[in-house]
Amino acid sequence: MNHFTHHISQQPAVRDHRFAGHHILSVSQFDRDALAYVFTVAEEYRQAGREISVQRPLLGYILANLFYEPSTRTSSSFLAAMERLGGSVIPINEVRYSSVSKGESLPDTIRTLEAYADVIVLRHYEKGSAALAAQYARKPVINAGDGAGEHPTQALLDLFTILQERGQIDGLTITMLGDLKYGRTVHSLAQLAALFDVKINYVAPETLRMPGELIPQIRVPQSEHTDLEAVLAETDVLYVTRIQKERFTDEAAYASVKDSYVITPETLSRAKADMVLMHPFPRVGEISIEVDTDPRAAYFRQIEYGMYVRMALLAMVLGQA
Ligand code: NCD
Repeated sequence: MNHFTHHISQQPAVRDHRFAGHHILSVSQFDRDALAYVFTVAEEYRQAGREISVQRPLLGYILANLFYEPSTRTSSSFLAAMERLGGSVIPINEVRYSSVSKGESLPDTIRTLEAYADVIVLRHYEKGSAALAAQYARKPVINAGDGAGEHPTQALLDLFTILQERGQIDGLTITMLGDLKYGRTVHSLAQLAALFDVKINYVAPETLRMPGELIPQIRVPQSEHTDLEAVLAETDVLYVTRIQKERFTDEAAYASVKDSYVITPETLSRAKADMVLMHPFPRVGEISIEVDTDPRAAYFRQIEYGMYVRMALLAMVLGQA
């Protein structure tokens, strides 16, 4: 076990191609050693800057970017990641224009795309869809969000961001705020962060609490609240999420919780001076734009770190890192 606690490039992970040919479906596939590997490669790419685009380690490889749900950030993040490494992309967005709307099954779509591409990134509205796709795929499938299930690449980039901003993860108190019931990013992040010595606070409206079946699987101290003030002062990382409107069946139920929490400069005046404020985006009012100039607002840096993490994952599953 590699105790990866301090600076990212301190202990370069041994290159053993352990991810070559593998799917990335869940954060449960990662231990600290595997994280160290991902973060080491991501940090190398970050430092290499344009140099890596000149080297083009993924020249000749093709990614099929298959998105059944709307996405700007995640789809363009994978697209930029692939192209910065010299690879190319088949972009398939909002699949209603493709055969899926004619009733083509996911396995058939996957088997078709893998005839053209070397790796498939899949976002789908159904929990378990990435695992289903992987059963049929001979090429690596990367889960880019399966309904209210998981979003492992987001959790990896979230932890990479915390490491970049704070230098280490052990010892931190992480507070997750917002829609913890439907928010797949928090489901994945809580499980992945639990590989470290952290404390996790959950702050949510009563109806949007962290799923009860997840909490016992996360073996670190956890506590649940409805009021941010109860935990704000002790928080090292505040991870804010959007209420997941598309997962509600009842418009009135959404309206009753949609403005539950809003982070303003006034909120930050009661937070630690070195707190890290994160959000997977898109935000729809949970963080006011006046907060953006506060040095603690890390969400735009988080987006850039995400691209390096996705570069690392693509290169790794293709056996090139
Ligand atoms: C998140 C998602 O799709 O789950 N966004 C993202 O990947 N950047 C969060 C969200 O949609 O609220």
